[in-house]
Amino acid sequence: MSVYVNEKTGADVAETAGTEQQPFQTAAFALFVKPEAKLFTYKQLEESEEFGYVEISSSALKKAKKGAEGIKKKQEKAAKMEEEQKKKQEEASKKLAELDLITIEEDKSLPEAKKIKLRKVQENIGTRVLVQGWVHRLRLQKGLAFVTLRDGTGFIQCILTGDLAKCRATNELTLESTVAIRGVINKLPDGKSAPGGVELKVDYYEVIGLAPSGDEAFTNKVQENADPSLLLDQRHLTLRGETLSAVIKVRAVLLNAIRKAYAEEELVEVTPPCMVQTQVEGGSTLFKMDYYGEEAYLTQSSQLYLETCLPALGDVFCVQESFRAEKSHTRRHLSEYTHVEAELGFIDFDDLLSHIERIITKTVKYVVEDPVAGPLLKQLNPNFVAPSLPFKRMEYIHALDWLNEHGITNEEGEKFKFGDDIAEAAERKMTDIIGLPILLIRFPVAIKSFYMKKCADDERVTESVDVLMPNVGEITGGSMRIDDLDELLAAFKREGLDEKAYYWFIDQRKYGTCAHGGYGLGTERILAWLCDRFTVRDCSLFPRFTGRCKP
Ligand code: 4AD
Repeated sequence: MSVYVNEKTGADVAETAGTEQQPFQTAAFALFVKPEAKLFTYKQLEESEEFGYVEISSSALKKAKKGAEGIKKKQEKAAKMEEEQKKKQEEASKKLAELDLITIEEDKSLPEAKKIKLRKVQENIGTRVLVQGWVHRLRLQKGLAFVTLRDGTGFIQCILTGDLAKCRATNELTLESTVAIRGVINKLPDGKSAPGGVELKVDYYEVIGLAPSGDEAFTNKVQENADPSLLLDQRHLTLRGETLSAVIKVRAVLLNAIRKAYAEEELVEVTPPCMVQTQVEGGSTLFKMDYYGEEAYLTQSSQLYLETCLPALGDVFCVQESFRAEKSHTRRHLSEYTHVEAELGFIDFDDLLSHIERIITKTVKYVVEDPVAGPLLKQLNPNFVAPSLPFKRMEYIHALDWLNEHGITNEEGEKFKFGDDIAEAAERKMTDIIGLPILLIRFPVAIKSFYMKKCADDERVTESVDVLMPNVGEITGGSMRIDDLDELLAAFKREGLDEKAYYWFIDQRKYGTCAHGGYGLGTERILAWLCDRFTVRDCSLFPRFTGRCKP
């Protein structure tokens, strides 16, 4: 039988006749459909301009036979796969049909379940409880299902057996679904391990909100090693992870601890405004805003407001958001951070330094001793050693010598000289090598803020302090304040600040001035040090920095 092939006009479909009018496209396909055929291909005729059908050459025929063999194998494979797929689907629907037959019901004869949060697990061993939360981990085995439940206060491993493991809901359960689980908490036998050394033997459970599977599954949204900016886009979901949630829990305890330390030192908590019309730490980092047609800013620091409280309330502190339009992309700068600030009256510089180191050591002690934060801290930073009093004190001028002796250079790559700023990298190198908290004191007037008091024995430097911690560097900045009216007015002039906007601050020097000082502590920075995080971004719920204001 003659069969015709035309690469240009032919078609490789089984229905093609293979005639001159209805040729195949390839010789391989023609042979696959009609193995016994004699093939003719359409080509330019020898020694002619004309085109026509000629019998296929033996080499082309050989190639076509190979091609036909390949097509046959491919089709057989596809048919086999289709068959397997069909079988699988049949099995799955059979299984689902069987699962549908398995209904789970609560056994009403059991004692009523006591509703608890997972933080109370240890106090309820042997009790039938109701726990509600999110599926943190999930493992299905033959006839058994293991669900690690998370409710924000803790984790528990739940064991589902029998019909509970076989039913449809369990087989369709997904990570991050919410469930309400009833069962008895048992101590784990020796040799087995699970969070808290206990497991929950489930007797009944319900799915409250089923999380998506497939493309939208939680594990596809939050992949552990994904690009940090992709993870930040999904911050609302990454928060559920064990590390980030641990840091945020330590943060909560830290803020309580610091309040406890302040209560012991008898400081009063106040809440200054966030929307202001004055600057504290220089115009370059101000966030401007339109306040009913007037220019206003998001506060850089509550310091000036705290100073106004001294005559009314005595020593005060606040826990308030501060805002800095930092262009720098460093690991320790945020655009919004939680600023713990304090102001104390009738003190001298030494009182201020002792107060700061006392507050920090007390706060850390309370965090380490806390039943929730203590173990989390161990997990996050196993080598953490709480600092002891007194902190190492180091004058700026001696720090320059130390840096020069250790071959650490200034920003220009040269030896440090008086008046140089000790930039982040150099400061951290020094702190890391020394490996202890440092009170770095007496910075030059020119590199510090306008309100800082000059040292009586050296007018070139101020009664100022930065607290430096290994791995992070500066966590606290503070100073004694200029308490003389004329000196303060001169400082305003020097800095080109409009006195009028600061009338309320200047009044503090008019209506009964006093020696006073204070400091600001960056919550995210102290956390980065405590929890051994590389960046302060890992210590904030929804970090704000250059280019990131969402979610
Ligand atoms: O050294 P700063 O700028 O000092 C003040 O604002 C003073 N007015 C505080 C006062 O005396 N009441 O900031 C104080 C601390 C720093 O040591 C640092 O821990 C933190 O605030 N901080 C930042 N934290 C994160 N991101 C930023 N952009 C920060 N800027 C300062």
